[in-house]
Amino acid sequence: MKQKYLVTPALPYVNGAPHLGHLVENIQVNVFVRALKMAGEDVLYVCGADSHGTPIEINAKKAGISPEDFVQKWRQSFDDVFKRFHIDFDGGFGTTHSPLNEKHAGKIFAKLKEAGHIATRDVEQLYDPKTQRFLPDRLVLGTCPKCQAEDQYGDSCEKCGSTYRPTELINPKSALSGETPVLKSSKHYFFELNHYAEKLQEWTKKPGTVHEDVQHYLKKWFEDGLKDWDISRDGPYFGFLIPGETNKYFYVWLDAPIGYISLTENAAQKIGRSVEDYWQDPSTRIIHFIGKDIIYFHTLFWPAMLMAAGYTLPETIAVHGMLTVNGEKMSKSRGTFILATDFADNFDPQTLRYYLSCKLSPRLEDMDLSFEDFTNRVNSDLVNKIINLISRTVPLLHRNHQGQVSEVDPGAAEMIAVIQKRAAGIETLYRERDTAQAVRDIVTIADLANRYMQDAAPWDASKNDPTKAHQQLTTALWAGKVCIGLLKPILPIVAEQTEKILRLSEFTFQNVLEFLPTHSEINPYIRLFERIDIKKAQLMMESAKTNSTPAVPATVPPAKVQEASLIGIDDFMKIDLRAALVLEAKAVEGADKLISLTLDVGPLGKRHVFTALRPHVEPSEFSGKIVALVYNLSPRKMKFGMSEGMILAFGEEKPAPLFLNNATPGDRIR
Ligand code: 2FM
Ligand code: ZN
Repeated sequence: MKQKYLVTPALPYVNGAPHLGHLVENIQVNVFVRALKMAGEDVLYVCGADSHGTPIEINAKKAGISPEDFVQKWRQSFDDVFKRFHIDFDGGFGTTHSPLNEKHAGKIFAKLKEAGHIATRDVEQLYDPKTQRFLPDRLVLGTCPKCQAEDQYGDSCEKCGSTYRPTELINPKSALSGETPVLKSSKHYFFELNHYAEKLQEWTKKPGTVHEDVQHYLKKWFEDGLKDWDISRDGPYFGFLIPGETNKYFYVWLDAPIGYISLTENAAQKIGRSVEDYWQDPSTRIIHFIGKDIIYFHTLFWPAMLMAAGYTLPETIAVHGMLTVNGEKMSKSRGTFILATDFADNFDPQTLRYYLSCKLSPRLEDMDLSFEDFTNRVNSDLVNKIINLISRTVPLLHRNHQGQVSEVDPGAAEMIAVIQKRAAGIETLYRERDTAQAVRDIVTIADLANRYMQDAAPWDASKNDPTKAHQQLTTALWAGKVCIGLLKPILPIVAEQTEKILRLSEFTFQNVLEFLPTHSEINPYIRLFERIDIKKAQLMMESAKTNSTPAVPATVPPAKVQEASLIGIDDFMKIDLRAALVLEAKAVEGADKLISLTLDVGPLGKRHVFTALRPHVEPSEFSGKIVALVYNLSPRKMKFGMSEGMILAFGEEKPAPLFLNNATPGDRIR
C-alpha cells in the first residue's frame, strides 16, 4: 500500500534574488521527493514564498513599490529559478500572502485563544519618532554596552559577541532615520509556549522526530524554560491584521509555517483532496526540511501551534547544515555570493544537484562547495565513470552489433551479483536522506563496471570474439543503466535521455536492475553531459563580485566591489567621499536625464550637483535621503550650470542612487 507523505522545504523569504544557499535545501528536498515518487509513494510536495514582515515592508518602500508587487517580483524569480533546477512543486510555488493563509492563521489563532494560551501585556520598545514606527532590534544601531564598539545592532555586538536588549545600547539611533529613538509602550499578544513544554518534550524525543545532533539544542532550551512568544507587531507592517485589531499584525513567523497548511490546501484541491486529508490524518507522514538556523521555530513554536489546533504533527524535522563556498561563508567581495541564475547560466543545473547530493546527509554539518572539488567530481566521477558506461558502449553496439543488445556476459556473474546487492540498498539510503552514501555506492558500482570493461576491452577484436564482445558491451551498458537509473532523483534529465536511448519506460526502483531484453534495439547515443571547465567557475566568481543585484537588498545597498584593476590605499584615500543630505531635488527642464540636487554636507556647507539618473529615479525619491558624494571632484561646467561633485549610484542596467541610512551629513566615508 502506498504511504501518504507531505513534504516541504522551508518557505524562502522573498526579499531578494535566490542564491546558492537557497538551492541546498531545495535540491535536497527535491531529490528526496523524486526518490519517494520513484518508489511509488503518494507524495504531496509544497512550497511557497514567505512574504511578510518588516524587511519586506521597508525594502518595498525603498524600491518605491507596494509590498505586494515587491514580493510578487521576487516570488516569480524564485519560481523561475526553481524550474531551471528541475524543482517543481505540487500546486505551484505559492505565497503566504494569500486569503487562504489568512483564513488558516485566523483559525489557528482563534483555537490558541479559546484554549487559553494567548496573553496580552504592554511592552516598552524603542520607537522612531521620525518614521513613526517601533524599531526591530536590527534597525537600532548604537554603542555596545559591554565593549563600547560603535555601530552595533540592537540585539548583539559583532565585535565582542555579547547579546543585550536594544534599550541597553549606548546612544541608540534609528537605522532608518538616524533619529534617537524614544521608549514607547504598546499592547502585545503572546503565545504561552510553556503550556506545551511537556508535550513538546515528548514529541521531540520520539525516535525519528529530530536527528540526535538537534537534541542537545532542545535539551538546553527545555532546561532554560520556554519563554512566552511575542506573536504581534504594531503597524506599519506587512502581514495579516490580528482579528479585532486595527493596527496590530501577526508576526511573520506566526503565519509563515501556517503557509505549509494553506499551500497544502491549494495543492490538495487540485488533485481532488482536502487539507484535512493531510493535516487531520494521523497516518500522513509530514516531513519538514529546514536549515539549522530555524530549529527553534520548527521544533517548538510550530508543533505547539499544531498541538493547540489539533492537527497532525510532523513526523520528522530534517535539519541540514549551511553552505560555504571555497571553505568560507559566502561573500560578495570574494565573489562567492553566487546567484542561482548566474550558476544556471554557466553550468548545467544538474551538476549542482549532483555535487550537493554528494554532500547531503541526515547530519547537521555545514557543507562546502569547493569549485575544484566540484569540477573533479563532475568530470571524474559523473562523466568519466558513470556517463562513460553509456557513451562508450552505445556507439560500439551500433558500430559492431547493429544497435542491439545481447544477453549479459556469463563470465561477469560475480560482478553482477555485487552490483545487484549494492544497488538494492540505494532506495533506503534515499529514504534516510543519505544521498552522500547513495552517490558513493553508485560511484562504486561504476568503478567496478569500468574496471570490468577496461579488462575485457570489448573494442579489441584480438582479445574477444564478436559474441563475447557483444555480451561484454551489454553487461557494461546494463551497469551504466543501473547507475543512471539510481541517480534519477538527482539527474532527472540525464535519466530521461537514457530511458530514450535504451527505449525503456520510466526507471523505478523496481525495474532498475532488470536486464535489457536480449536482441532489443537501442537508439543512437545522444550527448548526456558536458565536462565542465573550472575556468568558468573562476569567471563566474569574478562577475559575482560586481553583480549589481544585491542578493538580499540590505537597508543600505552594498557599494559596488571592483577588484579588476588594483589601486593602493593612498589612491583610494585621495577620494573625499562625504555623506550629504538632499535638501532639494528637481528635474532639469530641457534635459531628460538630469536631476538637480542641492545638498547639505554638514560643516562643509552646501553643494549643488547634477545627476544623470532621471531615467531610473524620480526626483521625489531623493527627498530627505542621505547620499554619498564625491566631494573633491573638480567642478564641471554644464549647459545647465555648475556641477560641484558627483553622487554614487549602483547597478548597471538600472542604476539606483546609493542611500546611506545611518550617516550624518558631512561624515567622511571610507
Ligand atoms: O528562514 C527563513 O528563510 C524563513 N523564511 C523560513 C520560513 S519556514 C516556514 F515557517 F514558513
Ligand atoms: Zn561589544
